[in-house]
Amino acid sequence: MSKNYKRHLITAALPYANGPVHIGHLAGVYVPADIYVRYLRLKGEDAVFICGSDEHGVPITIKARHEKVSPKDIVDKYHTIIKKSFEDFGISFSIYSRTTSPMHYQTASDFFKTLYERGEFNESTTSQYYDEEVGQFLADRYITGTCPRCGNDSAYGDQCEQCGTSLNATDLINPRSALSGSKPVMKETLHWFLPLDKHEKDLRTWILEENKDWKPNVYGQCKSWLDSGLQPRAVSRDLDWGIPVPVKGAKGKVLYVWFDAPIGYISATRELLPEDWEKYWKSEETKLIHFIGKDNIVFHCIIFPVMLKVHGEYILPDNVPANEFLNLEGDKISTSRNWAVWLHEYLEEFKDKQDVLRYVLCATMPETKDNDFTWKDFQARNNNELVAILGNFVNRTLVLTHKYFDGRIPERGVLNEYDKQTLEDIGKLKQAVEDNLENFRFRDALKAGMDLARLGNKYLADTEPWKLIKTDQERVKTVLHISLQITANLTVMLEPFLPFTTAKLAGYLNLGKLGWHDAGNTALLKSGGILKEPKLLFEKIEDDIIEKQLQKLHKTRENKPVSEPVVTPPKSDISYSDFLKMDIRIATVLEALRVPKTDKLMQLRINTGMDERTVISGITGYFKPEDLVGKQVCLLANLEPRVIKGISSHGMILLAEDADGRLILVTPTERVTNGSEVK
Ligand code: MF3
Ligand code: ZN
Repeated sequence: MSKNYKRHLITAALPYANGPVHIGHLAGVYVPADIYVRYLRLKGEDAVFICGSDEHGVPITIKARHEKVSPKDIVDKYHTIIKKSFEDFGISFSIYSRTTSPMHYQTASDFFKTLYERGEFNESTTSQYYDEEVGQFLADRYITGTCPRCGNDSAYGDQCEQCGTSLNATDLINPRSALSGSKPVMKETLHWFLPLDKHEKDLRTWILEENKDWKPNVYGQCKSWLDSGLQPRAVSRDLDWGIPVPVKGAKGKVLYVWFDAPIGYISATRELLPEDWEKYWKSEETKLIHFIGKDNIVFHCIIFPVMLKVHGEYILPDNVPANEFLNLEGDKISTSRNWAVWLHEYLEEFKDKQDVLRYVLCATMPETKDNDFTWKDFQARNNNELVAILGNFVNRTLVLTHKYFDGRIPERGVLNEYDKQTLEDIGKLKQAVEDNLENFRFRDALKAGMDLARLGNKYLADTEPWKLIKTDQERVKTVLHISLQITANLTVMLEPFLPFTTAKLAGYLNLGKLGWHDAGNTALLKSGGILKEPKLLFEKIEDDIIEKQLQKLHKTRENKPVSEPVVTPPKSDISYSDFLKMDIRIATVLEALRVPKTDKLMQLRINTGMDERTVISGITGYFKPEDLVGKQVCLLANLEPRVIKGISSHGMILLAEDADGRLILVTPTERVTNGSEVK
């Protein structure tokens, strides 16, 4: 059932403004959404991309209370941080708004009022815990007590974090208010409920019959909700942070955060397009897509559609391509345990490497099941894919063109069958990227895009222009001409995934703005055109960088305060002449071998500038032999020779050892001549 749409409205889940965003957010929601939108825009489609901060809800009030600031302070702080992270990673929202904006208050209030006046809500009174000392009804999270299941005495009113059971506040034994510590009392309170049960039949038809093409994980979750029967849902709360319920007699009551937040998509569209927003929300010619994580499925596939439908005029989503979760090094990402890779921290340590993370997160996107991010995989994908495939192809093509033809795009001569086949394959790969993107298969789409670089590498390896140049210059012209056209195609086909890299590359090629229709064209570059001096697109990431990230992460798990390292006690003073007795030199490791039948020992052959000698060092397990070869080290050169395991060792390599017993080489920060004295 493919309709002809005139425009696209793409939303990405509004992140809660109670913490920064991490790789899980990016992989689950914002990277796929951004790829999809960039692709649509390249196709020349009208695509509006909506997001903003979700600034209401109980967790924000709890955080504010902990930090002794107002909820507004919390959301202001994180809204700014989150917005900047998204910008830094090139997430190309048309607008990044927030749910504390006046436009949103107005829109959400009006929305509620319309439903209220139409009689779409049930009003009913329930009993809820109330803190008499503070004079406030208590959200489930604000009540603690003993878990009826496992006896944990600091379970929350909605969940016991020890045994994982989800609870009702009334299940808790010995409940206490988290606000004052007092014993809460039951008190009657009035709320408004959206009777989802009344819409169950329509929802079944709409999702289970008309949207069979939704992703299996989404369809399956909806089906199980529908099969277990829908209940009325309260859309108001007793809380002093949120949008006031806009009816008489609702003092102290606000809209439930999950009622107001999705309306935030509408408010942000109104803010962006004050005149035209209705075209996007109320026309059957608009294709509405919600990008979300799996914990948001029920809200976007069941509750929000019911709200839109009973309001009238609004369209329903065409698709909700929710992703599963991304784990980190085998464990669930957790903000409270600080088990995460934060986007703002990543950029401090991997400056200008936005595309590397975008690439890895797309390649490992949890599309159909939960997936794991590991730093080793990050390194491998950078080194073996971005550097070795994409970077290598592009670099060889550009460097050879500069070397042989002064950076001028050569004419192509007569094409042979292989050339023709190669050029044809560009079009096929374009089609593969397209088909996959249209069906929200981002990993396969990226793979098809990278296949174009693989195609280029194979073409160069098969034609060997660096050999041909000696015998057949004309043929080299054709080969590089074709390689350059492949490179030009890469700038379009990979743009949705790697926007920073493709912009750089287009610059090297002196290419203007291209569109998706240009992909597959094998004459994007004109013969005679001049190329700019290229730089490497990607660089290898070394083991020590990855080790550092792993250590940083594992520190959080040991829960040792980072600020209090354990330092070995100082030794007693020595004289200057004692110091002068030590002959410390810079030397280079020539060879490194594990000493057989030992756990720790490594046999090093080193050049000291004075001689070549053997040193035994207890560093196996901390370094791989291949990582040591070529490294410069500090050597205590005049330590008297000793025989260790039958090998004579002369001197000692200097190492730093931290509190965890980790060994780090002491190396000069620049290369110096072997034999240089350390003093
Ligand atoms: N803030 C929610 C979350 O992070 C998502 C809200 S999406 C919206 O899970 F539809 F409500 F906006
Ligand atoms: Zn429990």
